[in-house]
Amino acid sequence: MEGIAARFYDEPMTSNIADPEPARSVAFTRMADGTRDEYQYLSGLEHEYISELPQRLVQALRRLDEGLAGYQISRYQHSLQTATRAMRDGADTEMIVAALIHDIGDDLSPENHSQVAAAIIRPYVRAEVTWVVTMHGIFQMKYYAHHIDLDPDLRDAYLDHPWFESCDNFCSRWDQESFDPDYPTEPIETFEPMLREIFSRHPFDPAVVGDADAPQAARM
Ligand SMILES: [Fe+2]
Ligand SMILES: [Fe+2]
Repeated sequence: MEGIAARFYDEPMTSNIADPEPARSVAFTRMADGTRDEYQYLSGLEHEYISELPQRLVQALRRLDEGLAGYQISRYQHSLQTATRAMRDGADTEMIVAALIHDIGDDLSPENHSQVAAAIIRPYVRAEVTWVVTMHGIFQMKYYAHHIDLDPDLRDAYLDHPWFESCDNFCSRWDQESFDPDYPTEPIETFEPMLREIFSRHPFDPAVVGDADAPQAARM
């Protein structure tokens, strides 16, 4: 990589002087002008960056410790508690990790946080898990929407869906239960190996996500 870099990169980036080998920048200013060597170089950097996704997810979860107020516990604690209940209920690793990150979009995308979390986990888990995370916001409404004059039964439109029961289970047993400051909740360290396992998978592997989520969907 260094040989390639020496041919077309100008100056090292200086944003991180502690880095002994700072990344270099490509020469192009329009994507269409980039060369194969440049995109090969960038692809390598992107691969490295993606490999650090589990750590960034932990950071994003920790940020949920601040923000939305009024509940007895923070969204971060709620996330840990939801995952803890899933784990103790015998859920598999995909579903436990889904429980851990299901509200990760709460800070930046509060009006459609379910879809944000689902998009994050979608390349790495079976379609059922993605569907459950996508729909949990609607299913969860059963427990509170009537108090704020919204329809608690929107979920009924999916009564015949094959994963209705799975999402109902996710919400009734783990999500809506997990606002209890006295529940013995596992720390983030318990779940970090599971995060690494799921988010280190090859993305959009048909053997994992199923044929419906084809690899060409990866950039959509
Ligand atoms: Fe949620
Ligand atoms: Fe939640």
